[in-house]
Amino acid sequence: MAAEQRIEILHHRHGSWDDLPATDRDLLEHAVAAAARAYAPYSHFHVGAALLTSDGRIVEGSNQENASFPAGICAERTALHAAMSDRPEAHITAIAVAVPQAGPDRPVAPCGICRQALLEQERRQAAPIRLLMGAVNGPVIEMRSVADLLPFSFDGSFLER
Ligand code: THU
Repeated sequence: MAAEQRIEILHHRHGSWDDLPATDRDLLEHAVAAAARAYAPYSHFHVGAALLTSDGRIVEGSNQENASFPAGICAERTALHAAMSDRPEAHITAIAVAVPQAGPDRPVAPCGICRQALLEQERRQAAPIRLLMGAVNGPVIEMRSVADLLPFSFDGSFLER
């Protein structure tokens, strides 16, 4: 008989940005600022991301689209790759994502490819990346690790033999 197993995903839901420590609010503000620099002429959906590194730097990213749609890149991976190509030894402690136009009801969550890309970095640095998804003037969902967003994930350990 198959064993039924349930996976619990721990996350915190903050009612408003005021409930966050100033450093987290600041990171979300940087994500909002980054969204204003999105290049999204096709979807008109402007996403901003901002990440914090262990040496205290904030790196921003926004989605950059292309007429050949799959060639576009999300805000989260723009920020991630900018940070890691600049300082390969960096550790990312947190990433914030915001879509100002999306309204205050529901924070926008990273897509599957970005979850996979962030998980690779989490494995690489062997330390969790905290995730803040913030609706502007609305709630914030906080997760302590990207791994929580991607259960049954594929990673480099499958390629070892
Ligand atoms: N997008 C992001 O930048 N991040 C997300 O978390 C979700 C989706 C972008 C990709 C595309 O440019 C646009 O939003 C619509 O999917």
